[in-house]
Amino acid sequence: MGHNKTPAVNAEVEGEPVKASRYWDEGDVYQRIVGALQASGKSMDRLTVEDLAPVDHFHARGFRATQALADRLPIATGQRILDIGCGVGGPARYLAKRFGCEVDGIDITPAFVDAAIRLTADLGLSDVVRIRHGDGMVLPYADALFDGAIGLHVTMNIADRLEFFREAYRVLKPGAFLAVTEHALGDAGDVRYPVPWSRDGMGSYLLRADETRKHLLAAGFGNITIDDRSTEYGAAYQKVMQLIEEDRLPPLGVHLLIGEDALAMTENSARNIKEKRTSPHEIICTKRSVGD
Ligand SMILES: C[S@@+](CC[C@H](N)C(=O)[O-])C[C@H]1O[C@@H](n2cnc3c(N)ncnc32)[C@H](O)[C@@H]1O
Repeated sequence: MGHNKTPAVNAEVEGEPVKASRYWDEGDVYQRIVGALQASGKSMDRLTVEDLAPVDHFHARGFRATQALADRLPIATGQRILDIGCGVGGPARYLAKRFGCEVDGIDITPAFVDAAIRLTADLGLSDVVRIRHGDGMVLPYADALFDGAIGLHVTMNIADRLEFFREAYRVLKPGAFLAVTEHALGDAGDVRYPVPWSRDGMGSYLLRADETRKHLLAAGFGNITIDDRSTEYGAAYQKVMQLIEEDRLPPLGVHLLIGEDALAMTENSARNIKEKRTSPHEIICTKRSVGD
């Protein structure tokens, strides 16, 4: 399907608009991605999930991080998975294609939702990947609907983590998994800004691993594993910094979503990890059933 035929999202917000959507909103994201795809010689008529991978996994390690996490997730064909804070939809489309599951994606930033819906249509995946605009704090889904949920690099902007986890818990079936990746507060604390999720510390709510574990337990999750990925993320940021410094960034990349300050944000992200001010974590847990 050609990109000019795909629908734009109706950007009406369900619930109150919140600050995070204004922070991330960066104009016509879809057209920027299409322009970069064309500059990279990709045909919109034969677009693949892999073609989009450099731009649509919106975290420093990108597609590799999504793949590595997916290797650990117990997703079966036909299951229904939720992607909270789905961004432009790369992880949602990847899971749907890899596992033959259905994925509902929800995000608070209208420009990302618009791009996610249109890119999903361009790939012919709209029947298995449903994207909508909304707030992860008040999910517009029935109780116990999903077999699993992911939230990749979203929680850094979530002030009330316990409520966020409780809401995820509500929409999961008993025994379903929740997988979260995030930058946690490191032992040294005192984060250097700007970073990709906050220019000056406003809207940034990092927690230490033990606080996150406490909130997950209080929300009703068990079997909690928290893995530190500092080495992998540190190396990824170094690589991006080198590309920026040598002016060799490819047309297609997550820099299209970050906007200004990409170099300062990348430098700070790398230093924060090196100086143990932050530590990137991969967290997987399951919804305890009553009596567990
Ligand atoms: C760094 S991006 C990650 C996007 C996506 N998870 C990925 O890995 O490609 C963070 C995303 O979280 C979304 N977000 C932040 N707060 C949110 C909230 N309360 N509800 C839903 N989405 C939220 C932002 O709009 C943004 O798309």
